[in-house]
Amino acid sequence: MLRLSIVLAILFTYIVMIWGGVVRSTDSGLACPDWPLCYGNFQPPKETAAKLEMGHRTVSGLAGIFVFLTFFLVWFKHKTSPRSAKITSLIALIFTFSAALTGMKMIKMETPHLKYLSHMLLESFHIYESMIILGALVLTYRFLWKGEGEGGVPWWAYLFALTTMITGVLVRYTGSGEACGHEWPLCNGKLIPDFNNWQVALQFAHRNIAYVTWLSFLLAMVSNFNRTTLTAFIFINIQFVFAISMVLTGFFLPLVFLDTAMGFFLFAWLTYNLQIKSHEARLKPAW
Ligand code: HEM
Repeated sequence: MLRLSIVLAILFTYIVMIWGGVVRSTDSGLACPDWPLCYGNFQPPKETAAKLEMGHRTVSGLAGIFVFLTFFLVWFKHKTSPRSAKITSLIALIFTFSAALTGMKMIKMETPHLKYLSHMLLESFHIYESMIILGALVLTYRFLWKGEGEGGVPWWAYLFALTTMITGVLVRYTGSGEACGHEWPLCNGKLIPDFNNWQVALQFAHRNIAYVTWLSFLLAMVSNFNRTTLTAFIFINIQFVFAISMVLTGFFLPLVFLDTAMGFFLFAWLTYNLQIKSHEARLKPAW
């Protein structure tokens, strides 16, 4: 029961994140101007945009139910839950509440228009909240069932990947995706562009942090070759292929969705496989 609940919580949270990307890319964020209903009804109007927006709200509701169920089972039903799993399931629950409040605030402030910096930051913050929920759920699963010491992604490579994702979200939700034009590896015709506006700088920074991430995963694989570091390197390369194709095709929608889907899958997978040395493992025997 607990395992099913966590798996469904992870799955629905992941679907919510991709669905949110679809809502954003199709500009459907304000198709239902009120919250939680759509024009005062549970049933959305016939327009696709409103259906997409209400669908997003429904799936996030389902994700919320499974996050709560997971928290309840970990804390009150599963006798052998380690403290770490209790903490991560609580974090997932807290951020689920906070994401629902942020979602409501986004509609009220009409942030999907991305008119002001406050809109952009609130939209990005909403994605970071979802990442925290997804990460916390994956860690809960891991603390309950994955043996320690099996992790294989070194923390420094993980940190570079995380920074790439954090800046990627900013690129997207500040509307800076096209700041370098539809070019790669050049940016506005140059290897190092003129930083005449902050959006070019942000996009350029994201690209360069991605290159360092690629190098760090190559290093992780070469220095400690195993199935996890090899898979991680392959996943990073797939992300590169999607990102570069997305840019070169002028943000062809299916590629934008694939970029989002792979980006958050990568985040969950890396979190699950992150090398966490347990306290006991670090203690040297006294004899
Ligand atoms: C390690 C490799 C990379 C990772 C992990 C990564 C991660 C991400 C993430 C998580 C997003 C936000 C997606 C969303 O919120 O829907 C994003 C957006 C973006 N990334 Fe990357 N990225 C990588 C490499 C690259 C590269 C090499 C480029 C340049 C060719 C690039 C260009 C972009 C652009 C333009 C966006 C914004 C998309 C939009 O506005 O719709 N990324 N990235």
